[in-house]
Amino acid sequence: SKNGELHGKHVIVTAGGTHEPLDPVRFLGNRSSGRMGVELAVSAAARGAEVTLIAAHCTVPLPIGDSRIHVVQVNSAMEMHSAVDRFLASADALVMSAAVADYRPAEVSSVKLKKTTMGDEPTLTLVKNPDILASVCASPLKPRIVIGFAAETGENYLESGAQKVHSKGADYIAVNRVGESIGFGEVDSTLVVFNSAGDTVAQLSGQKKILAEGLVDILVAASA
Ligand code: C5P
Repeated sequence: SKNGELHGKHVIVTAGGTHEPLDPVRFLGNRSSGRMGVELAVSAAARGAEVTLIAAHCTVPLPIGDSRIHVVQVNSAMEMHSAVDRFLASADALVMSAAVADYRPAEVSSVKLKKTTMGDEPTLTLVKNPDILASVCASPLKPRIVIGFAAETGENYLESGAQKVHSKGADYIAVNRVGESIGFGEVDSTLVVFNSAGDTVAQLSGQKKILAEGLVDILVAASA
């Protein structure tokens, strides 16, 4: 039945935007709403999967009443990385829809930073975060199906997105165009999905619920 196609499968979905701490009250963040990841978790659960939803900061409500969805909340990229690693061995699929910060402050102050000590032109030193998607794809524990996302801006957004299927080692990359008023939060969006051969396997547009169902169709087809 259409409702049980992912029965017995464990799907990890990451969602939302990471917060990279600067001090006890401040962080570097991004505009991700978490909507895509939450819709993916709900769609995969509706098709019978057991879902671990690893949620960074989300402005949409988390699906906490759904018995098939185990929600794990994290703050930073480092926390998300260890949460993903914790569930990897049992996962059949990973969908990395979270907006993970590429960099984090090199130092986290244990006390609130003050103007008196920071001066008039403070400089922030950042260090690189691990690329969770690339590291999972290079791992012997890589789930059978890994789908990454590429939020791209500019003219060559499709090519630069498609190229990430190789640079990350993923099985699929879902490319969406983002900008001032598109892609983040609001309900309608467009996704072009590439496989590791570089072929377009789906072109989806509409509400994020519809996009999520289209991506779960790809999971179902690939896990058969
Ligand atoms: O390189 P870029 O940030 O565009 O790649 C986006 C994809 O990589 C997304 O699937 C995102 O969840 C994932 N990512 C990650 N770890 C990072 C940065 C991005 O897993 N540090």
